[in-house]
Amino acid sequence: MSRELYAGLMSGTSLDGVDAVLLDLAGPRPEVLGHTHRPFAPALRAELLALNAGAQDELGRAALCANHLAREYAAAVSDLLAGASIGRLALRAIGCHGQTIRHRPEAGYTLQIGNGALLAELTGVRVVADFRSRDVAAGGQGAPLAPAFHAQIFSSRAEHRIVLNLGGMANVTSLPAGGAVAGFDTGPGNCLMDLWAQEHLGAPRDEDGTWAAGAPADDALLAALLGEPYFRLPPPKSTGRDQFNRPWLERKLRAGLDAQVVQATLLELTAQSVAQAIRRHFADTRRLIVCGGGVRNGTLMARLAGLLQPIPVESSARHGLDPAHVEAAAFAWLAAQALGGHPGNLPAVTGARGPRVLGAIYPP
Ligand SMILES: Nc1ncnc2c1ncn2[C@@H]1O[C@H](COP(=O)(O)OP(=O)(O)O)[C@@H](O)[C@H]1O
Ligand SMILES: [Mg+2]
Repeated sequence: MSRELYAGLMSGTSLDGVDAVLLDLAGPRPEVLGHTHRPFAPALRAELLALNAGAQDELGRAALCANHLAREYAAAVSDLLAGASIGRLALRAIGCHGQTIRHRPEAGYTLQIGNGALLAELTGVRVVADFRSRDVAAGGQGAPLAPAFHAQIFSSRAEHRIVLNLGGMANVTSLPAGGAVAGFDTGPGNCLMDLWAQEHLGAPRDEDGTWAAGAPADDALLAALLGEPYFRLPPPKSTGRDQFNRPWLERKLRAGLDAQVVQATLLELTAQSVAQAIRRHFADTRRLIVCGGGVRNGTLMARLAGLLQPIPVESSARHGLDPAHVEAAAFAWLAAQALGGHPGNLPAVTGARGPRVLGAIYPP
């Protein structure tokens, strides 16, 4: 059988690195033929964080950072092709999300950097990049964009399912049996837990949520965090580090709180904000399918399962797609949509005026 091969590149809000997936779209169901993860060096992560917050000479620094990212992305594609023993000519396109350094749809823009031109030059492969801008131009949030792909992979004719992506931020996709797909960003996923672990453990993350599991959450802090108006906004809505960041957390903290208690509270914030969103908007759901790095936080997964009982909470792996592959695969699929002239957004999710073909195409 002939193959239709695409590479998808996702580097999300966590700033942990880039996930690259090789996807075959020839069959009735997309098939992952390979995956690689390239962690970002601490200096690149620090620069991206600085650019997100606003920095001196940020235009020049963002341009250099975009070039650095393009080289990382090209290396990931090269690893991916080598691992699958496939030449670059077999690839129809690379779908590259890029790195979000600002997300302000209410102000009319969202900014993902990565230099698609350089990525095309380095790989010799057609690149589709800058997926979110067109949706924002059409009045949408530009996010989340994975729901159309989630619908392809995880829908069931028998039951209402929710897909939850636990990345730096968390987003849900509602897949009613035969009904209209909905979805939005619920708020923070791992990003606040990560930054607190980095600050207090000197580790990139709280492995498996073990540190958080060793202390009780603080009720007053949790109430202050959950009091953030974003959680009560009706969809369509999307968010990012622009909103949920270190200064935001600082404003809610009171003196004398134990660092481990804060970590437990941040885990509880993610779990409760997700559970609340599901109960409020999708009360009749029968199953929660989880993807993203947060699946590997056993404490968080167990807490979610506890809050959502009796709804089963499962890794996407149980439904045929590794949790670390899902979002990168979505951008491979979105690249194919763009090349085929098909829309990638779901207006009911993003709030755009209509379906739009997403992305800018850089020929090989
Ligand atoms: N073993 C683990 N224990 C706890 N958290 C983990 C583990 N592995 C990954 N994570 C979390 O997942 C995040 C990466 O998830 P990812 O889906 O790549 O998010 P993003 O798309 O925002 O980069 C890490 O920053 C970390 O918080
Ligand atoms: Mg990541």
